[in-house]
Amino acid sequence: MGQELKGKVAIVTGASRGIGKALALTCAGLGINIAIAARQEGPLRETADEIAEKYKVKVLPVACDVTKLEDLENLVNKTKEKFGKIDILINNAGVSSQYPFPEQPMEDFERLAHTNYLGYVRLIRLVINDMIKQKSGAIINMVSGSTLCDPLPRNFIVYSSLKVGLRAFLKGLFWELRDYGIKVTSLLPGVTDTDLTGKLKEVTQDTSRLMTTEAIENALRFALTIPVNVCPLEIAIINQQTPWTAPVIPFKQQHPDK
Ligand SMILES: NC(=O)c1ccc[n+]([C@@H]2O[C@H](COP(=O)([O-])OP(=O)(O)OC[C@H]3O[C@@H](n4cnc5c(N)ncnc54)[C@H](OP(=O)(O)O)[C@@H]3O)[C@@H](O)[C@H]2O)c1
Repeated sequence: MGQELKGKVAIVTGASRGIGKALALTCAGLGINIAIAARQEGPLRETADEIAEKYKVKVLPVACDVTKLEDLENLVNKTKEKFGKIDILINNAGVSSQYPFPEQPMEDFERLAHTNYLGYVRLIRLVINDMIKQKSGAIINMVSGSTLCDPLPRNFIVYSSLKVGLRAFLKGLFWELRDYGIKVTSLLPGVTDTDLTGKLKEVTQDTSRLMTTEAIENALRFALTIPVNVCPLEIAIINQQTPWTAPVIPFKQQHPDK
């Protein structure tokens, strides 16, 4: 973006709590009207009310499961009906899980792939042709600091490998869309204190390794306010104590008895 943001329109997925909610509030603080999406209507409505109370922007809550194509189409259509355009897409909805691979349930692969990879790609595909016509737009995507690890963190290999694939897709998209004046940015946060990480005991046993959403909010502000002819391709926001920079997720190898 880089120009006046007041009156722009953003979609934020996974906006009822955690990082997505923080980013929806950041957009509202910049004067951006927002459509916020998540599956559960109650928390989504509460977030919409909170934003509308704090900021003078229009907020449209849309119940949406990003794993369902028809829900994504409905989200885009409702946003265009209400606001007439979409300037910014913040692809953020995501799920996580922690399993030794041999124990990971089959249905978990599908849940992770459809939410954390396909949901992002499909929603971008649904907004992109309008952005091309407008000759402007910003697509901000929540990837993960875990993609910086090689090998990927133990017990997170399905989640992290889907984020690696997403990151590769977005890098390609960055080059493909810059010809149209559209910016594509990936945010790579380290372990952040949200409901998602609260459930991952190996990651959160030492709370000094968690960061708040504040630095991610600042990264979004940076991406949206940078000069119009510049686009940050990727911003990694990593707590100095984060497990991804020091391999606290144990890489101990358990050799089978010979
Ligand atoms: N927290 C971290 O340490 C961390 C680090 C790196 C990257 N990330 C990424 O950041 C993103 C947000 O994570 P978070 O920590 O803020 O998670 P969170 O606190 O669990 O919030 C997830 C949000 O996504 C929504 N959501 C989940 N599945 C959905 C679906 N199928 N369709 C629509 N909405 C859905 C949830 O609402 P409903 O349940 O009502 O749908 C909620 O609003 C994810 O992509 C995650 O991979 C997080």
